[in-house]
Amino acid sequence: MYLTAPRIDETPVARPASRPDPAFRAEVRRGLAQPQKAIPARWFYDMRGSQLFEAITQVPEYYPTRTETALLQAHCPAVAERIGTEATVVEFGSGSSIKTRILLKTLPRATYVPIDICGEFLDEACTALRDLFPAMPIVPVEANFMEPVHLPLPRESADRPMLGFFPGSTIGNLTPDAAVDLLRSMRGTLGEGAYLLIGIDRVKAPERLVSAYDDAGGVTALFNLNLLQRINRELGGSIPVGEFRHVARWNPVASRIEMHLEARRAVSFEVDGQSFRMERGETIHTENCHKYRPGEMRVLLAAAGWHELEHWTDAQGDFSLILAKTDGARQEP
Ligand code: TRP
Repeated sequence: MYLTAPRIDETPVARPASRPDPAFRAEVRRGLAQPQKAIPARWFYDMRGSQLFEAITQVPEYYPTRTETALLQAHCPAVAERIGTEATVVEFGSGSSIKTRILLKTLPRATYVPIDICGEFLDEACTALRDLFPAMPIVPVEANFMEPVHLPLPRESADRPMLGFFPGSTIGNLTPDAAVDLLRSMRGTLGEGAYLLIGIDRVKAPERLVSAYDDAGGVTALFNLNLLQRINRELGGSIPVGEFRHVARWNPVASRIEMHLEARRAVSFEVDGQSFRMERGETIHTENCHKYRPGEMRVLLAAAGWHELEHWTDAQGDFSLILAKTDGARQEP
């Protein structure tokens, strides 16, 4: 059922890759020097990390993907009816998932613009989509969508509706403040008058949340540990990956699942020529997955200038699919 998980190579790399990404290097060095070590989650998504992430979405404990997929299947026709089938669909993320296909199927005359930081993964996703939708203009943009992105769109899209697509509760991976900033950036990228179709996971019993992020098959653990592999590979690290374990905890105060990499015993290692030491039980914080209640979702959107048009959920109330629109009117081009 899963992608074959590539074997974790336990051998630390002796030398840095010839041209490490300078931002990766700087953020890892800074993150490991903090009292609570932390590495920004965006570095999970190298080629292998992106593949492992796709595998997570299929483990039995990880309910969000299945639930959101069913919500999209049920409600994309209503989205198409409201905005018309000629929209420019801007996806924040590479669009490799079945969810993109469900949306695009209901918008056969759309232009599709995926934005992703991993160019390699973006290319793969576009190749697959071009096979499925040969007549659809597809305009991939390699960029960090946390900031407003200039979209290289053909002139004729100027008077078509813009629809942002942000599934997967990815918004929950930001702190609420950063989530508002991102939602505002999206308004900047899409322009006034735009729509946003966004999926957000809800607060629920902590046991269900924890098992969704710590599956019995260990796929999420591989995904988390791959970050250490990547550091070893690309930054000439000597991190003993086998001495670390994946931990997922519910933080009730911040209303979020936290993922950490915990040292099973005291370890010393080098990254990029710098030495680090961690005590037994000390962690590197790698991800947050914030969960919201429906009213909190509306507040978050409103703080960034979006108002809710539709709010759909499943029978158990596990997950929300929201169609929102900007508060302001569309600027004439
Ligand atoms: N945004 C999704 C979530 O929070 C997917 C995701 C992001 C994720 N990072 C993750 C899932 C790390 C598992 C582990 O659920």
